[in-house]
Amino acid sequence: MNIQSILSDKIKQAMISAGAEQNVEPLVRQSSKPQFGDYQANGIMGAAKKLGQNPREFAQKVLNNVDLSEIAEKTEIAGPGFINIFLNKDWVAKNVDIALAVPNFGIKVAHPQTVVIDYSSPNVAKEMHVGHLRSTIIGDAVARALEFMGNKVIRANHVGDWGTQFGMLIAYLEKMENEHADAMELSDLEAFYRAAKEHYDSDEAFAVKARSYVVKLQSGDTYCRTMWKKLVDMTMQQNQRNYDRLNVTLTEKDVMGESLYNPMLPGIVEDLKKQGLAVEDDGALVVYLDEFKNKDGDPMGVIVQKKDGGFLYTTTDIAAAKYRYHTLHADRALVFSDTRQSQHMQQAWLITRKAGYVPDSFSLEHQNFGMMLGKDGKPFKTRSGGTVKLADLLDEAVERATLLINEKNTALSEQEKAEVIEAVAIGSVKYADLSKNRTTDYVFDWDNMLSFEGNTAPYMQYAYTRIRSIFSKTDVDAVALSKAKIQMTDDKERALAIKLLQFEEAVQIVAKEGTPHVLCTYLYELAGTFSSFYEHCPILNAEETLKLSRLKLAQLTEKTLKQGLDLLGIKTVEKM
Ligand code: ARG
Repeated sequence: MNIQSILSDKIKQAMISAGAEQNVEPLVRQSSKPQFGDYQANGIMGAAKKLGQNPREFAQKVLNNVDLSEIAEKTEIAGPGFINIFLNKDWVAKNVDIALAVPNFGIKVAHPQTVVIDYSSPNVAKEMHVGHLRSTIIGDAVARALEFMGNKVIRANHVGDWGTQFGMLIAYLEKMENEHADAMELSDLEAFYRAAKEHYDSDEAFAVKARSYVVKLQSGDTYCRTMWKKLVDMTMQQNQRNYDRLNVTLTEKDVMGESLYNPMLPGIVEDLKKQGLAVEDDGALVVYLDEFKNKDGDPMGVIVQKKDGGFLYTTTDIAAAKYRYHTLHADRALVFSDTRQSQHMQQAWLITRKAGYVPDSFSLEHQNFGMMLGKDGKPFKTRSGGTVKLADLLDEAVERATLLINEKNTALSEQEKAEVIEAVAIGSVKYADLSKNRTTDYVFDWDNMLSFEGNTAPYMQYAYTRIRSIFSKTDVDAVALSKAKIQMTDDKERALAIKLLQFEEAVQIVAKEGTPHVLCTYLYELAGTFSSFYEHCPILNAEETLKLSRLKLAQLTEKTLKQGLDLLGIKTVEKM
C-alpha cells in the first residue's frame, strides 16, 4: 500500500486529461499540517503556469477529472492552487486489515529489478575500519529493503584483493610460515601488513623476492596463487566474524573482489586505445575527460594503465561496471563508498559509458557517505590517534551496553539479559549511523546512541517491547482479532492507522535513494504516534469491540516496527 503513489497516479492522469503534458509531475506529498489534509498535491501551480491557466481553475478541472471518492472523504483547493486530500476512514481501515492479513504487508514492486550492491569492500590483510563500517551497514540496509520489495539483489563485496602489495604480503607470509609463527600473530592484520612493509623497505633480498612474487602471481603461478588465497581467506574469515556480529547479511559467497575483474583489464585497455579514448602519455595510457578539469583548467587525464603495465583502481571499476551489466544482467549497480571516492567513481563510469560498454538504461549510482567524526569534530580515531578497529569498537559497545542494562536492573534472566545487551550494543552503533543522512559527516557519540530517549536504537527497541507487553497481558483470541472491525472514533486512532499505511513509502525511498535514515525517521515517528495513541486510547480497559480494534492497530504497529528494524538490520527483543 503506497498511498502517495496511488494518489500521484490518479492526479497525474487527471492533470493530463485537463491538458497537462504526459510527463507532468503532480508532486503529491504527505501534508505538513493536519489542516492541509493527509496529502497534498503541489504540482498544480507549475503545470497551470505552463498551460497559461489560472492555477485554482486548473486545480478545479483536475478535481473534476479524478475519482477519489473511495480514497478521500474530502478534497479542497487551498491557497494559490494546492489540492489538499483528506483520507477516508473506511478506506484506511480496510487497508490496515489488508496489511495485517497478506504476506509482506502487501508490499511488492510491480517490476522487480536486478540490483548489484557493492558494499563493505574491505581490503585484504587490513583491518576493517570505520569507513568500512558505514559502507557495510548502510549497504546492507539498502540490500534488505530492495530484496523485501521483491527485487533480485546481488551482493558484491568488492574486496581489495589485488595489486602490487601482494608480492610483499606473500613473501612475508612465507617468512612467517617458515618461522612457524602461530595463528595469533596472523590475527592482527594491521601488524602483519606493517611488518611486511617494514621488511620490504629495509631488507633488499626480501624486496627482490616480493617483486618477483608480484610477477609470478599475475602470471598465475600456483604457489603464489595458493599463498594469495590464504591471505584472502584469512582476512575474510576475520571480516565474517564482524559481519555476523553486526547482523549483516554478507557471506563468503558474496565476495567479488578486484581480482575477479583482472582478466578483463588488458582487453578493456586495448579497446579503449583502439577507440581512441585512451592515448599514450609518457609511457602510460591515459583517458582525457573534458567533463573534469585539472588545476590548469585543461581536460583531466585518468590513467588506465601505468608505465610499467600495471592497471589501476579505475580500470577495475570500468571492468566491474561492464561485468555487472553484461554478466550479472543488472538493471542498477550501487556502490557504497565514501564521498572522497566520488570523483573516482564518476570518472570510471564516464569512461565506461563513453566506450559504449553499458547502455543508458543501466543505472550506475555512487551512494556516497561522509565521515564518522569524534566528539572533537575530527575524524574518529583511537586515543593514541590510530584507526579504530571495528572489532574493538563493537567490544566497547557491548561493555557500555552491559553497564546500561545492568543499571536498569530489569527482571530478566541471565540469558535474556545477554540477548538484550547484544541487541542494544550492536543496534546502537548501527542505528546511530543509519539514522543520519548518509551524505553528511556525523559525530560518533556513545552517550547519545545508548540513550533511551530520542531517535536511538534503545528507544526503538523499548517501544517494541512495550507493545509486546500489551499482548502478554491479555489473552487475545487470534480469530476474533482478525475479524474485528477497525474503528476510528478518536483522531489518535486515525493518525496511527494512516501512519501505519505509510510504511511502504518509507521503504521505497530507501530502496530508490539508498537512504536508510528515511526509514529510521519513519519508525521513530511511528513509535511516537503510537505512544500518543496509547496515552489517549486505553486498550485493555476498553469495551470488547473497541478493545479488539485498538489491539489490531497495536498489532500492526508491532509488526511494522519489527519488520522496519529488521530491514535496518537491528534486532528486537521481547522484553527489556
Ligand atoms: N576497497 C575500497 C576501499 O577500501 C572500496 C571499494 C568500493 N567499491 C568500488 N567498486 N570501488 O576504499
